[in-house]
Amino acid sequence: MHTHCEDKSTMDRPNTATLDGDNYLLIRDSAEDMRLHCQHLIWELHTQYILSPDIPVTEHMRIADIGAGNGVWPFHLSQKVPSTVQIDGYDISSASFPPPSTLPQNVKLDLLNALSEPPESLRGVYDVVHVRLWCFVIRGNDPDALVRTVGYLLKPGEYIQWEDVCRDAELVQPGPTQTFENAYTRFLQRYDINMEWVRHVPERLRDAGFEVIRHSDGPFEKLVEAMYFDNYVSAALRVLGADETVAREAMAHIVQDLSRRGRDDIRLPFRSLALVARSAGTV
Ligand SMILES: C[S@@+](CC[C@H](N)C(=O)[O-])C[C@H]1O[C@@H](n2cnc3c(N)ncnc32)[C@H](O)[C@@H]1O
Repeated sequence: MHTHCEDKSTMDRPNTATLDGDNYLLIRDSAEDMRLHCQHLIWELHTQYILSPDIPVTEHMRIADIGAGNGVWPFHLSQKVPSTVQIDGYDISSASFPPPSTLPQNVKLDLLNALSEPPESLRGVYDVVHVRLWCFVIRGNDPDALVRTVGYLLKPGEYIQWEDVCRDAELVQPGPTQTFENAYTRFLQRYDINMEWVRHVPERLRDAGFEVIRHSDGPFEKLVEAMYFDNYVSAALRVLGADETVAREAMAHIVQDLSRRGRDDIRLPFRSLALVARSAGTV
């Protein structure tokens, strides 16, 4: 069932729809759009691709982006593939979608709850499914429902491309960052968000019958790391700020300390995941 503007995340976005089951914690407003745009470019700097060179591009192929947010990945990809390639972005909420009239003719954005079984019309339709940054969406440390949806949407023998981040306590520096991380960890625990599962995505996919053909994980390169740090802190502060149980004064103090630190001293407490895998079977 579609609901219209029923919660704070869509309040300032009239005529948008959100499916039942949405429990995304970030408010979908223009500041969030901007953060997602920056984050997209940061990922391009990191991986140096939009669609991995491991994935062959053919005329008329169909590509899905799951949890598409504001559709920046489908939009950017449309500039790099033939116009016969159809790119469909899906999200549980349309609140971040740009107006359809502003999209290229081969990009469509639509509603889908990727954590429940998709409609029969989407079974085995796609040559590529792209998944990015579900770390903050998956609850209970269990991405199986998402992996099932990806397998459902893909044709046999076709490709998943996944980018994500996993928090890594070993990368956290002592001092204000540690304080910040402790507060953020407590916040995430309240919502049963634990990004540990991201480390195990390759095994999860192999268990589901995928063949992993590209897998890199590790800290981000220094300059990218500094850019991502700002992006990460802005998102974390927005969710923490909306949470009354986190002491706002303590957070303000931490932010002040963070801003005083030298940029070459910045350490993002995340490892990256960039992966391409192929579903079982032949076409
Ligand atoms: C961090 S954003 C990432 C957006 C995009 N993938 C990107 O990299 O720019 C996560 C997105 O997942 C969407 N989402 C959350 N739960 C979902 C669900 N069950 N099904 C589909 N999308 C969902 C949110 O609405 C949000 O747009």
